[in-house]
Amino acid sequence: MVKSETRVNLPWVEKYRPSSLDDLVSHDDIIKTIGKFIREDQVPHLLFYGPPGTGKTSTILACARQLYTPAQFSSMVLELNASDDRGIGIVRGQILTFASTRTIFKSGFKLIILDEADAMTMDAQNALRRTPYYLIAIYQL
Ligand SMILES: Nc1ncnc2c1ncn2[C@@H]1O[C@H](COP(=O)(O)OP(=O)(O)O)[C@@H](O)[C@H]1O
Ligand SMILES: [Mg+2]
Repeated sequence: MVKSETRVNLPWVEKYRPSSLDDLVSHDDIIKTIGKFIREDQVPHLLFYGPPGTGKTSTILACARQLYTPAQFSSMVLELNASDDRGIGIVRGQILTFASTRTIFKSGFKLIILDEADAMTMDAQNALRRTPYYLIAIYQL
């Protein structure tokens, strides 16, 4: 958990981000469907789209927190956001490496969050098609 002193200086968008799926307002059907995926341990590729500030990032981060313990988080979740490089190199390098390394902490699938996925170059988006079967990717706008 983040210590309270470090939380003080967070931007409000982070500080008040809903931390669990239950805290998210509306999108009832979507939240129920996602909750079912998680309970059954069968999360398909997901693409969230919609206007800014409607809860796309918050939803997927809440899923990640429900799927993995804080100790598992860093080895099981790869989050790439708008400030990361979005070219083909990142798919061939960071994403494939992350997807293909096994971890001792947890079996099962890993989670890759591609925040603002539309900003990825065309080559990078095409390269994602050839990612291995064991990769669960979450493409997120
Ligand atoms: N459905 C929602 N329920 C509760 N808070 C929300 C919701 N959508 C957005 N917010 C608030 O707005 C902030 C930004 O939401 P975010 O998930 O980053 O939006 P997006 O990724 O769709 O642009 C969050 O920190 C949260 O405080
Ligand atoms: Mg977002």
